[in-house]
Amino acid sequence: MLSRRFGGLLEPLCRVSTLPDLKAQILSLTREYARQAHGAHRPAADPDRTPWQSGSPIPYAGRVFTEDEVEAAVSATLDFWLTLGSEGAAMERELAAFLGVRHSLLVNSGSSANLVAIAALTSPKLPKERRIQPGDEVITVAAGFPTTVAPIVQVGAVPVFIDADPITGNARCDQLELAYSPGKTKAVMMAHALGNPFDLSATLAFCRQYNLWLVEDNCDALGCSYSMPRQLAESLGFTQNSPGLDEGLDRVVRWTGTWGDLSTQSFYPPHHLTMGEGGAVNIVSDQKLKVIAESFRDWGRDCWCPSGVDNTCNKRFGWQLGELPEGYDHKYTYSHLGYNLKPLDPQAAIGRVQLRRLPEFIEARKQNWETLRRGLAAHEDVLEFALPTHATAWHPEQGFSWDSSGCRTICSWFGFKIAVKPDAPFSRTDLAQELDRNLIGNRMLFGGNLLRQPAFVQLRHDNAQALRVVGDMVGSDEIMASTLFLGTYPGLTSAMLAVEVEAIQAFICQ
Ligand SMILES: Cc1ncc(COP(=O)(O)O)c(C=O)c1O
Repeated sequence: MLSRRFGGLLEPLCRVSTLPDLKAQILSLTREYARQAHGAHRPAADPDRTPWQSGSPIPYAGRVFTEDEVEAAVSATLDFWLTLGSEGAAMERELAAFLGVRHSLLVNSGSSANLVAIAALTSPKLPKERRIQPGDEVITVAAGFPTTVAPIVQVGAVPVFIDADPITGNARCDQLELAYSPGKTKAVMMAHALGNPFDLSATLAFCRQYNLWLVEDNCDALGCSYSMPRQLAESLGFTQNSPGLDEGLDRVVRWTGTWGDLSTQSFYPPHHLTMGEGGAVNIVSDQKLKVIAESFRDWGRDCWCPSGVDNTCNKRFGWQLGELPEGYDHKYTYSHLGYNLKPLDPQAAIGRVQLRRLPEFIEARKQNWETLRRGLAAHEDVLEFALPTHATAWHPEQGFSWDSSGCRTICSWFGFKIAVKPDAPFSRTDLAQELDRNLIGNRMLFGGNLLRQPAFVQLRHDNAQALRVVGDMVGSDEIMASTLFLGTYPGLTSAMLAVEVEAIQAFICQ
């Protein structure tokens, strides 16, 4: 039965003699298996994609892959290096090259990436006045995903919450100044919400004024770009476009994740590319931050040898650090209280194939957002749709109009955010339940106002000084009460999107 299904491919297996031949046969069979087993996970635009059956669930997100990813995973598994190795090193180089940053370090999740990024800023190797020490403050935003904030607490710092804007879903950067505490504020760490860049020009100006670190949680925003007039960009220290981006001589345009000091990615399946579990810390320009972040990722060690390599520094037995004896093995010298947060090499092999698809995935996310926006445009009386930061309106013909800042955002949307207006005859929960009845995947904007989550209520209850809140959180509360999002992922076919639009229209017009 099996050999019939694979058209006799199994038979030559018994006859091959060399290992490379054997591997090639296995990979050929693997591709055939993946083609037959996973047709429904191909990109929506792929002609070999298994057609979506009307009435089947429409996920909000998921893995999008072909036999290429499965082959890469099996090939790396057969090689059985397992821990981060040549595939990992290649993916780190390729991701850094795509973004145009100095280094990318792979980790096992976006949450780990956030932990490594903020932990790196606690290093004693940094100048004393910039190092985050226990009790120092890090400004963040109340609405979003919990592990943008939890690592701030986990390294002993105090998160200071500003509010979010219900239209963009992003931080209200006009509150940054209010959140500043001289001598205590050391960093700003916040996410580009649902693939919508936050106001980078205001945030960077604030960080430059007070000499603060900026950590961009770019987990939901790989492929978003942000541009500003050249003069403004240069005043903030940026002269170069990101690779592949260009808006003319008068402007500087860069990917999100390349404006701060450090940025983070998640490669969990709903994100812009996937390795199953995985993430990355991007070090934008400072080599010292790379060495420190790598140390926190890799047990806290001082040595930076890749796994399986012994003497990269050429003085393995030539160091004297801490109170260790002269010449103590550098491989076992620890300068930080670190973790071990590396992913596996086969995961990186998958990620490398996904990275090659990224431009196509980014485009699909934009198109899917546009399709939903056009499809639901007649319902602006009851539904409020997201606007990119700096946009003032969306027009079906002209697209977005922009504010007078001169800054622009191009969104690589993680989701299609919809808020139910206060005077609508139904609630957000009614809409979510209707979507559920229609098997249409929908999600809240993660934790909503995080301050209302049990973990943060408990944190404050245990120690009133563990966090600080600036002003009321009306925007974050509004997001929590009225917002949900639909998917924009590249597995959504036009038939699926049409069903989503029809279901929402039917619900509104009933
Ligand atoms: C903004 C943001 N940051 C961090 C994370 C955590 O990523 P991971 O699930 O890979 O730990 C997520 C997860 O979706 C996220 O949305």
